[in-house]
Amino acid sequence: MTSCIRDLLSNDEFIARHIGPDSAEQATMLAAIGIDSLPQLIERTVPEAIRQANLDLSALPTSENDALVQLKAIASKNKVARSFIGIGYHDTHVPSPIIRNLLENPGWYTAYTPYQPEISQGRLEALLNFQQVIIDLTGMEISNASLLDEATAAAEAMTLMKRSNRKKNNNLFVADHCLPQTIDVVKTRAELLEIDVIVDDIANFANHDVFGAIFQYPGIDGSVNDLSPVIAQAHEQGALVSIAVDLLSLVLLKSPGNMGADIVFGSAQRFGVPMGFGGPHAAFLATKDAFKRSMPGRVIGVSKDSHGKPALRMAMQTREQHIRREKATSNICTAQALLAMMAGFYAVYHGPVGLKKIALRVASLTHCFAKAIQAKGFTTNSSYFDTLIIDTKDQTDSIIAKAEAKLVNFYKASATQVSISFNETITPADLIDLADCFGITLSEDEVTEASAAQGFDAALLRQDAILTHPVFNSHHSETELMRYMHQLEVKDIALNQSMIPLGSCTMKLNAASEMIPVTWAEFGRIHPFAPSNQVSGYHDLLKELIDMLSKATGYDTVSLQPNSGAQGEYAGLLAIDKYHKSRGDHDRNVCLIPSSAHGTNPASAALAGMKVVIVKCDQDGNIDLADLAEKAEKHAAQLSCIMATYPSTHGVFEEHIREVCDLVHKFGGQVYIDGANLNALVGVAPPGSFGGDVSHLNLHKTFCIPHGGGGPGMGPIGVKSHLAPFLPGHAVTPVLDMAEQHGAVSAAPYGSASILVITWMYIKMMGDRGLRDATFNAILNANYIAKRLDEHYPVLYTGKNGAVAHECIIDIRPLKAESGISEEDIAKRLMDFGFHAPTMSFPVAGTLMIEPTESENLEELDRFCDAMIQIRKEIGKVQDGEWSLEDNPLINAPHTADSLLDMEWTHAYSRKDAAYPLPWIKARKYWPPVGRIDNVYGDRNLFCECPPIDSYED
Ligand SMILES: Cc1ncc(COP(=O)(O)O)c(C=O)c1O
Repeated sequence: MTSCIRDLLSNDEFIARHIGPDSAEQATMLAAIGIDSLPQLIERTVPEAIRQANLDLSALPTSENDALVQLKAIASKNKVARSFIGIGYHDTHVPSPIIRNLLENPGWYTAYTPYQPEISQGRLEALLNFQQVIIDLTGMEISNASLLDEATAAAEAMTLMKRSNRKKNNNLFVADHCLPQTIDVVKTRAELLEIDVIVDDIANFANHDVFGAIFQYPGIDGSVNDLSPVIAQAHEQGALVSIAVDLLSLVLLKSPGNMGADIVFGSAQRFGVPMGFGGPHAAFLATKDAFKRSMPGRVIGVSKDSHGKPALRMAMQTREQHIRREKATSNICTAQALLAMMAGFYAVYHGPVGLKKIALRVASLTHCFAKAIQAKGFTTNSSYFDTLIIDTKDQTDSIIAKAEAKLVNFYKASATQVSISFNETITPADLIDLADCFGITLSEDEVTEASAAQGFDAALLRQDAILTHPVFNSHHSETELMRYMHQLEVKDIALNQSMIPLGSCTMKLNAASEMIPVTWAEFGRIHPFAPSNQVSGYHDLLKELIDMLSKATGYDTVSLQPNSGAQGEYAGLLAIDKYHKSRGDHDRNVCLIPSSAHGTNPASAALAGMKVVIVKCDQDGNIDLADLAEKAEKHAAQLSCIMATYPSTHGVFEEHIREVCDLVHKFGGQVYIDGANLNALVGVAPPGSFGGDVSHLNLHKTFCIPHGGGGPGMGPIGVKSHLAPFLPGHAVTPVLDMAEQHGAVSAAPYGSASILVITWMYIKMMGDRGLRDATFNAILNANYIAKRLDEHYPVLYTGKNGAVAHECIIDIRPLKAESGISEEDIAKRLMDFGFHAPTMSFPVAGTLMIEPTESENLEELDRFCDAMIQIRKEIGKVQDGEWSLEDNPLINAPHTADSLLDMEWTHAYSRKDAAYPLPWIKARKYWPPVGRIDNVYGDRNLFCECPPIDSYED
């Protein structure tokens, strides 16, 4: 009975909406695993030495509505100006059907990276479309999909040139007309690889002997020049050339591929993705066929399925083709897939004709404005696509002030120059307003009747056709686009279909209330370099988030700059390196990494110029303390750090983590705790309190940013105070509260700032209690699954008291030896039950790693366990000889509807066994769109473009 109105007010309803099991279900699960209460489970699971009862963010749970109201108040402190700042970020019209059907649609944003291609054909096609857009516009032979931002793409281009060029030379030329944030990140990344970056005028290129060069087209000075001569000259000198490009300009301009470029990179932001105060946006890197096998990032390719039909998959993928641990060429893992899909759909929606209209409108309005101000005596750059550098002399500040008073932002290019970059959103009325800032009166007719013309040499106009593939010429009405997007969406399994039990990936709920603010203009339409007096809402949000995340992790402060977990690793290692050097310790470059680590750990260490030394794990999967002691001592003088994941990637809370940290500290090393598994630590054992000096937090795991089919993500790093002075800064906009601005690791000062609202909402709505309960339940759910499955599939590792952490590894190796059925067969068979497979063969080959997260209720956990147990029974039938190893539902999985309709059914099992192996499947059947995909064929016959439409037909 409720006794008063207070009992009817509820601020904590969201906790129960986020956490799957209610108290009755929790009791059932606890009984199943033989434990009395959740606190007792935590006592049995988390080592006493690191347990810390209180999480004190001083945050009470807030209702969804109140949290949105609070966030709206913060948002309203941001001023949405009309932005003409440019410098790599442009306002754009995000097509409404793309907002509604993709950005705000869990069918797209809750999907995972397409490692299991049979249930990912929709997003693979969307990403292939993106690659085709990039190939067509850049004029290159192959493109990836995608990278984190334009500046890190430049750094990837640098390292690709370095390893592809046999020339013995460590000098890189970067033209000073490149974006300042690009130069900043390239310098950061070059330093530890001992590459010398020469920043100079492109006119002086011939004076330098280099292995590679980076130019920009059009340059930051707005000018549009034919780069063919300087590219030819570079090739003559034995250098490779990378060009940073602006995608919209390439709709009109001759392509850099046509000019002879080796690599072309850039950002796809202005193809319908909001500026978002810096991100998230997809970057791209395209290159020549000759370099395809050393491309960074993911590449989507065409292969065929078991029925011989075309099917898509990630090409060259042995987990990540470029993350070869310590021999890595890149550490890119999570990488902006959702934003690449948005850009791809933007091109699908507008098509070549629509894009040309947009590009020509931007170019023509720029030209019209240039003529108008030149007529009044202002001088500008003589060639331009969308950017004018105007000599404003002593009027510079007054013009900028006049513009700001109208909430119009220009960029101050120098003390005497204003830079204006025009974009898709500009109207004739805006142009009139802009002219007024220069004291010029323009009439509407003068603008609208001006001829459509561009401000660059006609010889540079593109002659070749772009986007000729049917997909770019078919879906221009909203009805057609909506249906095409829906067709792709339903091919895939995302969280709106069933649980995604991917170990280490934490596929938890991304709640609607967390997602709603992402599309608010006060967060989306803000340029990352907007004047600080326009972004105080963002500043409040960043400060509050830094405070909350610091408290949740036990660190002193947090850098919000890294755009992914792997970038966080890199930024953390950089801070460690700078810290050692600041103390005169110049030789500390050994990074100890347990053999069970995620591939990005050694990859990031290699990119930070460190020497990776692998530490063994013992038979229980724990770090082998004796081996660690031996290696730490052996490398004592060079010991930089250890990178350890906690709870370990083996899914257990290692008892000796404090000893591990103490040992490394004893030899002068620093401790990097990989925070990918923070879902088991928040409110229970913050890594900063048991010995970590730095950790990255995958906000796209523990803190609810959706995975988006392979990104966005955010990888902020928490650090202890001694590392705080060495966090990344920024060349254009100084990072808040940083005394010294060290080199940046991302293009924008706060990475993908607009999605930080998701994490803010999650923390606010959960409060201290909810966050702690989430951890408890994540651990409960994993232990329940381990208990139910153990008698069917042995659980590989457990902690001291027989419990697992928030995930568990089941060992398929003995079963495979007995039956011939592999972990891959199980993974593919799960698709017939409507489930995404658990993580396959990581960190131990021949195993499956299951992470249910706290968001799944008992019914869903049981459905998954029932499916796994049914599969075990099927394996039993193969073992018993009832079904042969060559013909059984596991080896033939997944089963498409098409294959079941074959008149002739020759299999040893029935159609019903194939499609409806358990009764409940019928009511919610997911039909895999393709049969099992041939990986080897795809890699041998690498084809990474949209195939002609007729190849999809029978
Ligand atoms: C343990 C671990 N560390 C690091 C990473 C890399 O994170 P990201 O994909 O955000 O770069 C992952 C990603 O799955 C991971 O599981």
